[in-house]
Amino acid sequence: MTFKGKIAGFLAGMVALCGGVGAYEFHARHVAAAATPAALPAQPVHGNLRQLMETKVHTEYTYMSFTIWHDQPLTAEKMDSIAAASGRIMDIAAHDLSSYEPAYRQQGWTDEDVQFFDNKRLQLTQIAEELQKAAQKHDSSQVTSFFLHLDNTCQSCHSRFRKDLSWT
Ligand code: HEC
Repeated sequence: MTFKGKIAGFLAGMVALCGGVGAYEFHARHVAAAATPAALPAQPVHGNLRQLMETKVHTEYTYMSFTIWHDQPLTAEKMDSIAAASGRIMDIAAHDLSSYEPAYRQQGWTDEDVQFFDNKRLQLTQIAEELQKAAQKHDSSQVTSFFLHLDNTCQSCHSRFRKDLSWT
């Protein structure tokens, strides 16, 4: 039970003691309704952002990096896997990343931090989509160039929030 839930339960219990069963039911419903919105924090979809970065985003990135730089030639099959991996990064950037903003704001991110994060998140969405399209076309020079852009986007976001992660 959440902290707010406990308070709601306690208040409802007090009302029941003082006012009898009818009043209890009325007040319990009233308190529960009032408590509901505040008791639902914005739920990050995948645990926390570090986990999401480490287990999903970085895994897809590492697969693409290895395939593009160390596993030539880029066969049709590898191109299709790169397209799928980039598509998964695109989905995460488009749908999941923004859910962490409230938690980081609470930990001290300023409006500018949140704005920066959101711009980079959108940039990652767009570049991952371009990379996906290039891989679907099996265009290896475009795949290489968009992968470099993708890499820069990871790093430019980390340069503000996690300088220790720089990998160039
Ligand atoms: C929109 C900003 C943003 C983009 C773009 C971004 N990241 Fe991150 N990433 C973060 C933030 C913020 C953290 C630190 C989270 C924390 O420490 O609380 C992080 C952390 C990480 C971590 C460390 C996880 C850990 O265990 O500490 C890895 C690895 C990572 N990102 C990989 C990537 C890769 C690969 C890309 C590009 C495909 C990428 N990130 C793109 C914001 C971003």
